[in-house]
Amino acid sequence: GGGKPLAGRRAIVTSGPTHEPIDPVRYIANRSSGRQGHAIAAALAKLGAEVTLVSGPVTLPDPRGVKVIHVERAEEMLEAVLGALPADIAVMVAAVADWRVATENTEKIKKKPGEGPPPLMLAENPDILKTIGHHAQRPKVVVGFAAETQDVEDNGRVKLQKKGADVIVANDVSPETGIMGGTRNSVKLITAAGVEQWPDLSKDEVAGRLADWVAARLI
Ligand code: C5P
Repeated sequence: GGGKPLAGRRAIVTSGPTHEPIDPVRYIANRSSGRQGHAIAAALAKLGAEVTLVSGPVTLPDPRGVKVIHVERAEEMLEAVLGALPADIAVMVAAVADWRVATENTEKIKKKPGEGPPPLMLAENPDILKTIGHHAQRPKVVVGFAAETQDVEDNGRVKLQKKGADVIVANDVSPETGIMGGTRNSVKLITAAGVEQWPDLSKDEVAGRLADWVAARLI
């Protein structure tokens, strides 16, 4: 305990949502405050890691002692993450939009009376966690998150495999939990070894514990 167990280690953290432009004034996004991801970046830095935080649009201040790269779209987020390799640790917390608008509209789409709403063609975004989890320069510890509203454990186990992660931190984001956008979190750690339920904690406490967990995995 104590000291800087992550001194000399490099970490990449993603946080916040991505915004996928529909046109210059509209976008598609997931709900995400960035609170949990930003707290994890700060907690890893506190343990001595050299942290690159790749953040989508959030209203939070940049955590101190962390290099922050601000991005908007999933494709930009992936590019920034790959640019931060090599690293020992990757913690992908961002709520990346699964789809972007296939055709870029460089001008604002106008309402056309009598024509109804415009059709939107979507294209699949890159999966950043999956890319990192299967990369030739895969960090030693790869952490994914899973925000679910049902079958949290089963979905977490499937994600662990598919994404090539060492652990999936799963939480139930059903509206009645108040987790989404809130300051507290109740998570399950899903690894190949099994499931560990953590108590109800603040997002800062989850971040501190997760940083300790990562440090222990690297020894
Ligand atoms: O598949 P799902 O989005 O539920 O997986 C969640 C995990 O995958 C999170 O760690 C999230 O940051 C990551 N993810 C990603 N790129 C995507 C989609 C999800 O990095 N395009």
